[in-house]
Amino acid sequence: MQIHTISTQLFAGQKPGTSGLRKQVQVFQQAHYLENFVQAIFDTLEGYAGKTLVLGGDGRYYNRNAIQTILKMAAANGFGRVLVGHNGLLSTPAVSAVIRQYQAFGGIVLSASHNPGGPEGDFGIKYNISNGGPAPEKITEAIYARTQSIRSYKILAADDLDLARLGTVQVADMQVEVIDSVTDYAKLMESLFDFDRINQMFKSGAFQMRFDAMHAITGPYAKAILEQRLGAAGMLLNCTPLEDFGGGHPDPNLTYAKDLVDILFGADAPQFGAASDGDGDRNMILGAHCFVTPSDSLAVLAANAHLVPGYKDGLAGIARSMPTSAAADRVAAALGIDCFETPTGWKFFGNLLDAGKATLCGEESFGTGSNHVREKDGLWAVLFWLNILAVRQQSVGQILREHWARFGRNFYSRHDYEAVPSEGANRLIDSLRNRFGILPGQRFGDYEIEFADDFSYTDPVDQSFTQQQGIRIGFVGGSRMVFRLSGTGTAGATLRLYLESYSADSATHNLDAQVALADLIKIAEELAGIRQHTGRDQPTVIT
Ligand code: G1P
Ligand code: ZN
Repeated sequence: MQIHTISTQLFAGQKPGTSGLRKQVQVFQQAHYLENFVQAIFDTLEGYAGKTLVLGGDGRYYNRNAIQTILKMAAANGFGRVLVGHNGLLSTPAVSAVIRQYQAFGGIVLSASHNPGGPEGDFGIKYNISNGGPAPEKITEAIYARTQSIRSYKILAADDLDLARLGTVQVADMQVEVIDSVTDYAKLMESLFDFDRINQMFKSGAFQMRFDAMHAITGPYAKAILEQRLGAAGMLLNCTPLEDFGGGHPDPNLTYAKDLVDILFGADAPQFGAASDGDGDRNMILGAHCFVTPSDSLAVLAANAHLVPGYKDGLAGIARSMPTSAAADRVAAALGIDCFETPTGWKFFGNLLDAGKATLCGEESFGTGSNHVREKDGLWAVLFWLNILAVRQQSVGQILREHWARFGRNFYSRHDYEAVPSEGANRLIDSLRNRFGILPGQRFGDYEIEFADDFSYTDPVDQSFTQQQGIRIGFVGGSRMVFRLSGTGTAGATLRLYLESYSADSATHNLDAQVALADLIKIAEELAGIRQHTGRDQPTVIT
């Protein structure tokens, strides 16, 4: 078989965002577009000759084409072996688990996460390093720089491989091993959680759950683990992965997982509900008539970790992204462990996990995970909750209320303004930035601004410095709001407004978050002129 060197032209804008390179499918379909980026990844890496690469994606439209191209390019560029998921499928946490288990050189994940799929939807590609986590900025910046000077790429002239057959085939000098997508991941889950106890809970017949895979990648994982292994028979929804996610938006939140929300808030609601996103790294947790914010979920998992076999010896520390609520900080303080505040994006947790400084990590954006892999992990969070429920034998609502009674409640909400004109969104951010000097001391009713700044972060492990990670406005007494522009959107700009206030008073704990935060929501509009800059009266999504 012959290696071809294809000359190519440059593409502007191949810059990885919060989580890899994400673009509309049509952009990826341009001749050489994917190939340039893949070659830029390979050109940036050193010392992979003869080594193992892990490859898989969430099965969205274009996954099948991209996998074949990348296999042929990996062979042409000198990898020794590629472990590829059955039919090209691997969830993002499973890629991370497989990289770690086989001590691979790295991995490529094909996904645009929770963004819609199909020919009109989005596609994405992300490189993960040998610890199983997303490449740090140093590498993603080098990849981007390379895309701006690339002249050619290498690809093997070969037929497409049959990825439906498990086993190993030789492709030129490289082995391709098609692995079962679920087995290694399921074993890892079994090593962390008390499967027997969870199985007992289902067997009792009294416990009902609904898990919504949203026609995305967690379907096969949920079938194998929740249904076949743990006995949640007949409790799973939408478990066949589809290239366009059935036309849905595979984002597990109150807006896009509405069918599941309706079941959990309806008559005869099951005790537990959960959903995962396109590539399986996000999770939403619900109880009967009850929604657990991701920030609270992280705090509850931390406070109950001693009940779960994989974490019973204690946590080294907790890490959360800056916009995530401080609920976990209160648990960390009670446990006498550190709580780290990082910029948005899972890549910032990698160093803390590798250095043994943190065990649990979480983001308000429905991401929770631990040191078992280096990605957030949707099904892991669901199993963690199931393990806690099996041990505590209480409802999700009871567990949450007891948690708030002990630690107080951090009322929390995120308002997203999706696909607004970039110019207006940038103006809004700049205008806040220009007023940092004059905002402290300004009063809005009962609220007085204590500080206004741009979040920056120095990594405590390698001292790398990251700036402009979101505008924070803090009020006397601890309430705060954060304004940030999304780094994962593909159309215009997405403005995210994060709101938080704290109450230790149990009498207030049943308040709806939008009610508890109503004053702050008004102040945000007054301060930032959201309507004026974006032309929007209402957020697109409230979580
Ligand atoms: C969003 C979330 C962020 C998460 C990322 C990848 O990024 O806010 O927490 O890590 O997706 O799932 P954003 O669009 O805000 O840049
Ligand atoms: Zn995702």
